[in-house]
Amino acid sequence: MKAEIAVMTEEKLDENALDKAGQILQQGGLVAFPTETVYGLGGDALDPAASKKIYAAKGRPSDNPLIIHIADMGHLQKIVKRVPEKAKILAARCWPGPLTMIFEKSDCVPYETTGGLESVAVRMPVNRIAQEVIRRAGGYVAAPSANTSGRPSPTMARHVIDDLSDKVEMIIDGGMTDIGLESTIVDFTEEIPTILRPGYLNQQMLEEVIGEVRLDPGILSTDSNLRPKAPGMRYKHYAPRADLAVVEGSMENVVETINTLARNRLDEGAGVGIICTDETFSRYPLGKIKSIGARSNEESIAMHLYQVLRAFDEEEVDYIYSESFDTPRMGQAIMNRLLKAAGHEIIEA
Ligand code: TXA
Ligand code: MG
Repeated sequence: MKAEIAVMTEEKLDENALDKAGQILQQGGLVAFPTETVYGLGGDALDPAASKKIYAAKGRPSDNPLIIHIADMGHLQKIVKRVPEKAKILAARCWPGPLTMIFEKSDCVPYETTGGLESVAVRMPVNRIAQEVIRRAGGYVAAPSANTSGRPSPTMARHVIDDLSDKVEMIIDGGMTDIGLESTIVDFTEEIPTILRPGYLNQQMLEEVIGEVRLDPGILSTDSNLRPKAPGMRYKHYAPRADLAVVEGSMENVVETINTLARNRLDEGAGVGIICTDETFSRYPLGKIKSIGARSNEESIAMHLYQVLRAFDEEEVDYIYSESFDTPRMGQAIMNRLLKAAGHEIIEA
């Protein structure tokens, strides 16, 4: 099987291709499609066989639950037992958008989709292509990120094609995703709503809408005794082929330290890559330098992170040194992903 590629934009939808995507999904097949966060690998969420196919295509452990994507608020009640008042308020403000909420699941949601859990994760994406795919599939599409398990999430169709083209029936190319990091996950089965995965929407933004929100202590800690609650946050994530380390400290010290490390490695005969920003790009004379975006525009950093990590696998580098990106609003989400990719290897400058 070689996936059919359909190219479209949110402004100019290809109705025929969308109809076909809907049919494939209704018949138990798989379709990859863009959302505003990252590309998703979709299957009918209420069909246990389709969920099994998703796990097989990604090579994902079957105890790592999938997110069910819906396109209409009226569809929520069928798949959950109850929706707490605060979740309703948050949905009214943030859906459709880069927010996933976890509830107690109803009986019609198969355990294959929830990785055996009694809870279910639900998200309503804002991307129009995603919405149309979901509607035509019958309303409930299970979709993890459309990457091979362990690789960075795909932010463009090229990444999906590289990982999955012989494992799905159709890939919809809707261009580069807007945000580039996976959705914020908020768990409403806890007494106090708890962030299990940081994303574009941060703790402060959520608290402004619904009051106290906790952060799962397992996600930012390097203490292996504190396990993240979301199974997917426990797995060792994509580490690039090269050895990646994150350098922290004042900007001046970081630039100087990275240049010293690069020089030493090059003297040893190794290849060196550097992940920096537009502001510092010209200050690195050695190695393969990739700017991830501008510090003055943190959205650009989030948008390019996975793309840059993937791109270094095509380069002859043995070591990658990255600046740290603790930006004001999305810094927690960006650093959460970057530190996982680096296996928490931090160098203090
Ligand atoms: O932005 C996104 O959320 C993307 C796009 C495609 O929508 N999807 C995505 O799915 O990132 P995935 O499967 O790569 O990540 C889902 C995360 C995993 O860490 C999983 O363990 C967690 O959500 N999760 C799903 N259901 C859960 C549940 N019932 N309880 C706890 N964690 C859950
Ligand atoms: Mg994923």
